[in-house]
Amino acid sequence: MDGAKVTGLRNVSSTCSISETEDYDLSRLLDKPRLNIERQRSFDERSLGELSTALSRGAHDNYETTHSPGWRSGFNTPASSARNSFEPHPMVAEAWDALRRSLVYFRGQPVGTIAAYDHASEEVLNYDQVFVRDFVPSALAFLMNGEPEIVRNFLLKTLQLQGWEKRIDRFKLGEGAMPASFKVLHDPVRKSDTIIADFGESAIGRVAPVDSGFWWIILLRAYTKSTGDLSLAETPECQKGMRLILTLCLSEGFDTFPTLLCADGCSMIDRRMGIYGYPIEIQALFFMALRCALSLLKHDAEGKECIERIVKRLHALSYHMRSYFWLDFQQLNDIYRYKTEEYSHTAVNKFNVIPDSIPDWVFDFMPTRGGYFIGNVSPARMDFRWFCLGNCIAILSSLATPEQSMAIMDLIEERWDELVGEMPLKIAYPAIESHEWRIVTGCDPKNTRWSYHNGGSWPVLLWLLTAACIKTGRPQIARRAIDLAETRLLKDGWPEYYDGKLGRYIGKQARKFQTWSIAGYLVAKMMLEDPSHLGMISLEEDKQMKPLIKRSSSWTC
Ligand code: GLC
Repeated sequence: MDGAKVTGLRNVSSTCSISETEDYDLSRLLDKPRLNIERQRSFDERSLGELSTALSRGAHDNYETTHSPGWRSGFNTPASSARNSFEPHPMVAEAWDALRRSLVYFRGQPVGTIAAYDHASEEVLNYDQVFVRDFVPSALAFLMNGEPEIVRNFLLKTLQLQGWEKRIDRFKLGEGAMPASFKVLHDPVRKSDTIIADFGESAIGRVAPVDSGFWWIILLRAYTKSTGDLSLAETPECQKGMRLILTLCLSEGFDTFPTLLCADGCSMIDRRMGIYGYPIEIQALFFMALRCALSLLKHDAEGKECIERIVKRLHALSYHMRSYFWLDFQQLNDIYRYKTEEYSHTAVNKFNVIPDSIPDWVFDFMPTRGGYFIGNVSPARMDFRWFCLGNCIAILSSLATPEQSMAIMDLIEERWDELVGEMPLKIAYPAIESHEWRIVTGCDPKNTRWSYHNGGSWPVLLWLLTAACIKTGRPQIARRAIDLAETRLLKDGWPEYYDGKLGRYIGKQARKFQTWSIAGYLVAKMMLEDPSHLGMISLEEDKQMKPLIKRSSSWTC
């Protein structure tokens, strides 16, 4: 079957090299498995496993770049992968159709994808808008399919929106703020299109999306990496856009930590869920955006100053995160035995965390092998919950050391029922219940236990897991998760999220035909078929940024 014909896909064979500080020549390492794939024709789980073992030996240093000129030529995705025994799953064609139906046009040009195309739902709310974070998997799917135009249009359109004056009541937002979402209004009489954007002033809870700017920078790099076209990133407008976003985060103030202080609900979890403070999702995206910007900013007068600040912040941030957010068995044991009320520089328990505040569940949850970045660390407060997005981004950005990345994957394997269950993937674990739910969420009826942001399962996270699996050389984990998704996602109409401890039930208020559930599935499939796509969304470890981890490490167990 010709995959290209069936799914209406275009082939990708163009490769270019862009000079980036984190770019390394992977062609030598990747050439080998690539040949294997082509020769073997039966690219089954075993061969993928072998490929991963071969890669994992040097994976962290090398499995990164999409662009080593020529190595992909003659291996077009996804059509040729079909020829090489990847019969495309029937869901793939359906997903492409659904993704294309979600396209949003501005003056005849595609500029994004709508959050959900759910006609059955009575309440539209803002699901008819293009969300910046939701568009990321769509963008990656289009880039992987050799359709960069829509991504370029999106990047430019949102950049224009950044230039708007943003106000909430009488208060003006920082210049660099990017919108959470925008909507195109078509006037059939005047035959004109206009845009409205939401920077948090209409959002439920009135929170500005801290993640939008980070995703914008990450996407700009993905576009540059995928197309080899540096000219967009190098425009004065894009350079300024990046600098403005970063100025918001790099300014000096009262902070004693290099992490970014946030309000509740400022990212994917956009409602009150007790993630105020220093949430892992934002810290990981911040780190990744800083590294992406570092590779895209020009070394001109204005760029240079920004670059210097980025480099300093990256050092401090990686040290802080790797040291204080990391939790594994030994570290948990250390915290359990912490002394409190220590004063001065010699303090071991720097944030004065009271051991009694460690929740019971974490002692059972923590495997002997494995570890993760916890949800939040601030004075006398550690949020021990697992958050999927932050941990996957930590792996992809190399905020996690290679050993920590392996430990995160170990944890996912060891705690499969809890974190994956019957439908990938839990956004957070565990759910908050009863009195705690009342206090922490403010009695939010949408975030009841094991639903939505409170321990619900989100298919969109599949692409992040798959990318992390490929980077750590464990594609078989992704394959297992994708198999699970394939049993239900299409049949259930691509829900936004699932409910229940195991994620067995379609979410109570979940939209159907949620675009990022569709695109997330496609990206996961395409990456597994052609792991070289990983380079778009992954950054290799920066050797100069090696803080010593002076504490426990699960990899020695
Ligand atoms: C929900 C999600 C948010 C997403 C939006 C649109 O509000 O919590 O992350 O961007 O829906 O899909």
